[in-house]
Amino acid sequence: MKRVFSGVKPTGHLTLGNYLGAMRRWSAVDQHEADALFCIVDLHALTVDHDPGRVRRLSRQAATLLLAAGLDPKLCTVFAQSHVDEHARLSYLLECVATDGEMRRMIQYKEKAAVERARGGSVRLSLLTYPVLMAADILAYGTDEVPVGDDQAQHVELARDLAVRFNQRYGHTFVVPRATLPKVATRVMNLQEPTSKMGKSDDVGPGIVYLLDEPEVIRKKVMRAVTDSGRDVAYDREARPGVSNLLEILAACGSGNPEALAGVYESYGSLKKDTAEAVVELLRPVQQRHKELCADPAYVEGVLQEGAAKAREMARPRVDAAYRAIGLLPAM
Ligand code: TYM
Repeated sequence: MKRVFSGVKPTGHLTLGNYLGAMRRWSAVDQHEADALFCIVDLHALTVDHDPGRVRRLSRQAATLLLAAGLDPKLCTVFAQSHVDEHARLSYLLECVATDGEMRRMIQYKEKAAVERARGGSVRLSLLTYPVLMAADILAYGTDEVPVGDDQAQHVELARDLAVRFNQRYGHTFVVPRATLPKVATRVMNLQEPTSKMGKSDDVGPGIVYLLDEPEVIRKKVMRAVTDSGRDVAYDREARPGVSNLLEILAACGSGNPEALAGVYESYGSLKKDTAEAVVELLRPVQQRHKELCADPAYVEGVLQEGAAKAREMARPRVDAAYRAIGLLPAM
């Protein structure tokens, strides 16, 4: 059975982008078809200025939302990255395989470092080495497939390169993983700024739909989405980013495709109205289940503890093998 690994970083409230780009497939497809692990990658949340209490709250909330979105601990493994030492252990070895040039070329590093510098802050070294930790997350489990949105494709590519390089230098140790992207909504855009990604780490904004937004809030955000100067409804991501984003969201909520849906609408108003309702209906069961799970925090805690125990067992032998292969003495 193929192995699937993916993760979500608790740096903000989870968004419609996280759901459509990644989480929905994890529960609808991956956990049924693969030996799958899904991780709250909390160590990654420390790479930017952070408040410890908020990271803890967001980590619990992310775990609760993953379960609310349909991940079933009987079918897959759900856990927190910091509970399994193997991630950090392997990350160091991979830092000895990666180069600083590779790290500096990462698009997300360049973007996030620029934001930190513009704020007058310093850039944490861990922001630069972040993709190596992500590669360790993936490679520790012998992962075949990494279901992610398009913004993570470059990071998965790096994990592939590091796996191949390590195997060539030190003997076959790692499976070479590949990213799997959704057909639509692979990059959901900010409703107010449709040329930028809808990102959870951005400040609270009217262009971001959060999974826990009330239906009225979702309707307002979608109805106020920035559209383009043309009048007709056409699907063209370059020339019509605003309308195309709405068409993609609507398509992703149902089973249509954005080009075909463009032909169905004559006005932006009706497209927005249907998109808002589709998002409200898509999120309704997730929000309902989230409310139920919030009443039972011990259950969520238990899932994470069991998940970590399973994950440790899966990761340990491969990471130990990597330690031996690279030239370190075996620990007795
Ligand atoms: P993160 O937490 O930013 O996002 C989690 C998942 O959601 C996807 N996503 C989107 N998809 C479509 N449109 C959007 N606007 C959008 N925003 C986010 C992301 O592509 C991702 O799949 N570095 C990763 C977390 C990570 C990871 C890993 C993922 C750490 N280790 C190992 C996979 C495997 C991140 O920051 O995702």
